[in-house]
Amino acid sequence: MKLIKLDAIDSTNSFIKELVLKGQIDNLTAVISKFQSKGRGRNNNIWLDKPSNNLNFSLFKEFKNFKIDDKFFLNIISSISVFSLLKKYDLKNLSVKWPNDIMTGNKKISGILIENNIRGQFINQSIIGIGININQLDFKTLPKATSLKIETGLSYNPEKLAVELQKILVSNFELFIQNPEKLLNDYNKLLFRKSKTIYCKSKTIKINEGDIVSVDQYGKFLILDVNGIVKKFKENEIKLNY
Ligand code: BTN
Repeated sequence: MKLIKLDAIDSTNSFIKELVLKGQIDNLTAVISKFQSKGRGRNNNIWLDKPSNNLNFSLFKEFKNFKIDDKFFLNIISSISVFSLLKKYDLKNLSVKWPNDIMTGNKKISGILIENNIRGQFINQSIIGIGININQLDFKTLPKATSLKIETGLSYNPEKLAVELQKILVSNFELFIQNPEKLLNDYNKLLFRKSKTIYCKSKTIKINEGDIVSVDQYGKFLILDVNGIVKKFKENEIKLNY
């Protein structure tokens, strides 16, 4: 299990993509960089970070028979892994906001970008990109962001967290083979605002508020609307206001 340590790179996910193209990367290799000049987030957002403050981490994972239908398990495995890593710190109300933001209270401490190489009905390879805010103290343009240091008052070594995170991810990938249902159940236990009312907006269905029920194995988000009917949403079909 290799860990490649860089000082600066455009993006650790893009770096892995290049190694894959050159055939120069082994399964379960992780890459970290002290700085990313073009860090990427979900939905084409940029992921900004202050040099040497945070963890910019990507893991390369190869699969033999991983069906596209199981794609959401990649979100589940990565969110649960970050949750397990962070749970030993004194963070209040740590949770997973669907599909895969890690929250402490109402603030985001970590984000995950998963990029897949698909062939037919199977995912051959994935790059699991994880950003964790560690020692950064100000997020001027991001009022809903926080870091380990803001929450605990202490500084941490991003590299040490990377070593641990890589191990946790590998063991959760093994658990996925043995017991995927447990992973889905665990994910649902950690869900942000589970069973609570949230305000939301959807382009597909008229809904302004509802209670968060659960997430199914395909990654659909289930909300109980004010009429007592459970509505299902795909990623990007609903926006939560919290
Ligand atoms: C998000 O919440 O939008 C996902 C953010 C993912 C950021 C990480 S940092 C390491 C890896 N490299 C990238 O360019 N992005 C991911």
